[in-house]
Amino acid sequence: MKSELLGLARGLRRRLEQAPPPFAAAKTPRDKAARLDEIARAIESCRLCALSATRLKAVPGIGSPDAAVMFVGEGPGFEENRRGEPFVGRAGELLDKILASIGLSRRTVYIANMVKCRPMKDPRTPEARGNDRPPSPEELSACRPHIEAQARVIEPRFIVALGAVAARALLQTEAPISRLRGQWQDIQFGGRTVKLLPTYHPAALLRNPDLKKDVWTDMKALKKALCE
Ligand code: URA
Repeated sequence: MKSELLGLARGLRRRLEQAPPPFAAAKTPRDKAARLDEIARAIESCRLCALSATRLKAVPGIGSPDAAVMFVGEGPGFEENRRGEPFVGRAGELLDKILASIGLSRRTVYIANMVKCRPMKDPRTPEARGNDRPPSPEELSACRPHIEAQARVIEPRFIVALGAVAARALLQTEAPISRLRGQWQDIQFGGRTVKLLPTYHPAALLRNPDLKKDVWTDMKALKKALCE
């Protein structure tokens, strides 16, 4: 009788050890999509910084919940603020072409920003063009839990930081993007070690087309890493 009870207890313990913990990370693409939707709802009602007071739409992110690579920009601009989707202006059109050049698209990767609401130079004139500004260090740290939560769900193999703001925030450095770009680095992000590749922001390429060859080099390196 005693040995039977001991056997039952052992079996139960084994089953409990094998069962997923009650708050395990979402694993199937469907679970991941549901978790990303929950995070998007939290972002849409977020009031953690003053940018929430002037946003038209929060811009959580878009793409595959199971993406192997996350592209991370700095923050929404004029057009993104109206549409609630990242990279939909001219820089976004160029990003689509960059993705297509290595066989990717906004449906197969995940695209998001370090901050989810539009930073404006003058919040009293939201309709003015040229009113975008980079997010402040306080805005970056207030918003950081949102992108970390997204990365925790997606579990990407790689992150591409688009531009100086995202690269510096993710690497916690003040180094110039010209020195950071093209250099793979391991970062702790969303509870895991992830390989980060900084490159130039598409908007920088629109201003200075000479930078395109470096981005092409970086995208070839990303493609190679994705195939390994
Ligand atoms: N620039 C960014 O960094 N993100 C966007 O979504 C659009 C432009």
